[in-house]
Amino acid sequence: MVLVSATEMIKKAHEGHYAVGQFNINNMEWTKSILAAAQEANSPVILGVSEGAGKYMAGYKNVVAMVKEIHDYMGITVPVALHLDHGTFEGAKACIEAGFTSVMFDGSHYDFEENVAKSKEILALAHSKGISVECEVGGIGGVEDGVTSNGELADPKECADIAALGVDFLAAGIGNIHGKYPANWAGLNFDRLAEIQASTDGKPLVLHGGSGIPQDQILKAISLGVSKINVNTELQLVFADATRKYIEAGKDLEGKGYDPRKLLAPGAKAITEKTIELMKQFGSADKA
Ligand code: 13P
Repeated sequence: MVLVSATEMIKKAHEGHYAVGQFNINNMEWTKSILAAAQEANSPVILGVSEGAGKYMAGYKNVVAMVKEIHDYMGITVPVALHLDHGTFEGAKACIEAGFTSVMFDGSHYDFEENVAKSKEILALAHSKGISVECEVGGIGGVEDGVTSNGELADPKECADIAALGVDFLAAGIGNIHGKYPANWAGLNFDRLAEIQASTDGKPLVLHGGSGIPQDQILKAISLGVSKINVNTELQLVFADATRKYIEAGKDLEGKGYDPRKLLAPGAKAITEKTIELMKQFGSADKA
């Protein structure tokens, strides 16, 4: 099976009251580990690529080629979408051209009229090619790829206007933050989430900053209309932790333990295990 758009898998998740994870990839190890997790958990999956990660992986065309080849080589049969995360206007166009099956256009830092106008243009272009589109209203807190946002709460009226353009799923700030959550984090704002879901006429919603949110808040967010949860930091942390343990135990110095296929193996395994755990938590396991 080829890569698919995320429209159908998210629609099914919204109807079935679970969420599909978007797990961000950084390289070949991440791609293999997350695809292995999806196959083992029998779960649909969205591979997220930030613009910075796209550059790191030598450009969007290379990302498309790598993901397609790994997908086929591993014999993956669960639905897989390749999605641009927090795309600029130009980045979204480039990914549509390069063969991504889903894009996010993040116009949340423009004034609202410009966000609407640019979102409309990306929607028309992407939908003409069967590519799903995520748009954003209201910033997500924290720092991602050098862009800082204060984590404002999205305005339900603005969410309604953007949703009505025909976006497939909508990212809306509800107190969520990219990166590690600080000890004094106020938690997700469920009142605002419920208002947004009501104002958007039941549009599937996206929860960014999915790393480290307590399970009860994840489940409540899903019950209120969140159907896609983005995770990046959590997989980076488990990879780094497993790799540090390997080196601190001196395993790179035993025999040929310095061989990258051995050195990176514990981190890759940790990514697969954490991804399976999150797929079960989000309810997408066995929903492929
Ligand atoms: P985390 O890095 O906090 O998991 O956020 C990921 C994300 O929202 C990608 O858009």
